[in-house]
Amino acid sequence: MTDSINSNINPNTSSDIERRIAYLRQELHQHNHRYFVLDDPVISDAEYDRMMKELIQLEESWPQFSSPDSPSARVGSPPLDKFDTVEHSVPMMSLDKGFTEEDLISFDQRVRKLLNTDADILYTAEPKIDGVAVELVYENGVLKMASTRGDGVTGEVITANVKTIQTVPLRLQKNNHQPVPALLEVRGEIFISKENFKSLNEERANQNLSLFANPRNAAAGSLRQLDSSITAQRPLEIYKYNVSDANVLGTDSQAEILQKLKQLGLRITPLILSKSPLSEVMEYYRDLDVKRLELPYEIDGMVVKVDRLEDQQVLGMTSRSPRWAIAIKFKALQERTRVLDIQIQVGRTGALTPVAHLEPVNVAGVMVSRATLHNADEVLKKDVRIGDMVFVQRAGDVIPEVVKVITSNRNGTEIQFVMPSVCPVCGMQVFRDEEEAVTRCVNDECPAIIKGKIKHFAAKGAFDIDGLGDKLVDQLVDRKLIFSYADLFALSVEVLKGLDRMAEKSAQNIMLAIENSKQTSFARFLYALGIRHAGEHIARILAEEFEDIESISIATAEALESIDGIGPIVADSIVDFFAQGKNRNTVDQLIKGGITIEKKKDVKGEISLNGLTFVLTGKLDTMTRSQIKQLIEAAGGNVTGSVSTKTDYLVVGESPGSKLTQAQRLGVKVLSEADLINMFR
Ligand code: IVH
Repeated sequence: MTDSINSNINPNTSSDIERRIAYLRQELHQHNHRYFVLDDPVISDAEYDRMMKELIQLEESWPQFSSPDSPSARVGSPPLDKFDTVEHSVPMMSLDKGFTEEDLISFDQRVRKLLNTDADILYTAEPKIDGVAVELVYENGVLKMASTRGDGVTGEVITANVKTIQTVPLRLQKNNHQPVPALLEVRGEIFISKENFKSLNEERANQNLSLFANPRNAAAGSLRQLDSSITAQRPLEIYKYNVSDANVLGTDSQAEILQKLKQLGLRITPLILSKSPLSEVMEYYRDLDVKRLELPYEIDGMVVKVDRLEDQQVLGMTSRSPRWAIAIKFKALQERTRVLDIQIQVGRTGALTPVAHLEPVNVAGVMVSRATLHNADEVLKKDVRIGDMVFVQRAGDVIPEVVKVITSNRNGTEIQFVMPSVCPVCGMQVFRDEEEAVTRCVNDECPAIIKGKIKHFAAKGAFDIDGLGDKLVDQLVDRKLIFSYADLFALSVEVLKGLDRMAEKSAQNIMLAIENSKQTSFARFLYALGIRHAGEHIARILAEEFEDIESISIATAEALESIDGIGPIVADSIVDFFAQGKNRNTVDQLIKGGITIEKKKDVKGEISLNGLTFVLTGKLDTMTRSQIKQLIEAAGGNVTGSVSTKTDYLVVGESPGSKLTQAQRLGVKVLSEADLINMFR
């Protein structure tokens, strides 16, 4: 890395400028690699900064030489309106979880049984970094796209944001041992170090901004910025841990994948245990558990992977996770605090859950002021009383729970908890389900149950109705404006406008969100119904197996149980749901209300708008009207001037006029500009 070009540059000719720019870029790429990947810088930070400054100045004065993979491209691109989504070419699966050394032993036994061997299996183990999973796509060595894991199948495109991260190379490192693959989809974890998280929060406190709860939230929040110049100011880092297709790296081992990634300039954690038998993995786990408090970043467990890729192939996957890997989590950290009160929460299934209200306490970076006590038996078993000092922990690191009472702290003033005999919300008698140890309100009309179901229906994984928050649902139900989630589709701007703190514009936005939610996937639709025991995973299985809702509604328990992944409890619950007339009516009402369920095949492939009629209204901002018209017509659709029963879609921009009201009256589907553009992607 000599500086010879520097000495004889003639800044007056453009070819010299071009050469100088190329030289600076190459030097900066090299120094980035030495600094961030090899941890072995050969120039000072000040020298680095001078080179970067010169490069930025030259690129600004000579924009004809600008390039998207320049090391200067990290400072941020123009803001976006919304993130695009992308389907991962290979789904980003999750990991099976264990919590103890026993879980690790049974994992090893399972692996050996499936591989039909008594020999020691060699594993590669890594820390499980507590951050945000991302996929980076390199084409011919150049970073082309970065996306979030999303639901594992579809993620959000966050390329501009990821490009601002210093430890993400914009170009892969060329070397003699290994050609750069034509296509490399690499996965890793983006995170913020503990120290950087602290300073970030301090800075935010100084500026009177809300604080991040923990480093992971800070990383996720920073990645979700539409304006990448904000992301550029956040101290994000990355470690890579896998590729979507190991074949492109020409290796037969997990440990070697990591080494190859490192050779390509992709940062990997230095804490890797390579090709080791179970006994060493166990030791590594114990070490890591102790070490984790001193590590510069948060980890929440260890990931163990069968090292031989051939064995991984044989082991295969379940619908959710690979059988060749497991995450063994560390014990959640516990803290001490006082129980101020025990109150009852009534959920969408009618279950009465005692909740401890606590003196706020910081548990592993999160302020905890409530903790679930699960059910009355649990309260009795742990003998939690109002006024007690208790240990709380974040179970699975999400919902905090009371672990145990410190009885030696009692002074006799503590008050025992009694489960009420009537629902605290509707006042009807409650019943205890002995099998489940749950006390339930069984009043279908209990506002708490109705609200819970509607909130579930409108939530992210379900109909994902933007703006329909908990407070709004509470108001709608309390004022008896809606009685079920199907009633959401009969709401109008007029009704919404009458509510507290609801301006015309917000009412219109909510109506638009409700309208947009009408087009959904079969899996989301099923999940939204809130069938007991049928979570997102089961909903996805059902959507794969069945043609339509009608065929699920008439399926027998036997038929359902014969499906891989569906057990007797789930099967019975589905049959039960559809046996109830009111549930069937609600489903009918949804379909009649204009819900359209996308068939899987429709979402992929070339878009055809053959025979579909569109109307445009409001101020459009991405494209001009005539551009949008051309786009629609090129795909075989028509654009007309007014909304009628013949209109298929109304595309609305800002401040839509009477066309929107007309479309809503006629049940014409409404699209935002972004929705329309997404149709073409
Ligand atoms: S491997 C198919 N390795 O854990 C297996 N994951 O529950 C793919 N994670 O979404 C994951 N550190 O966000 C793997 N060293 C590591 C990891 C790791 C953190 C996260 C990742 C993933 C989640 C799986």
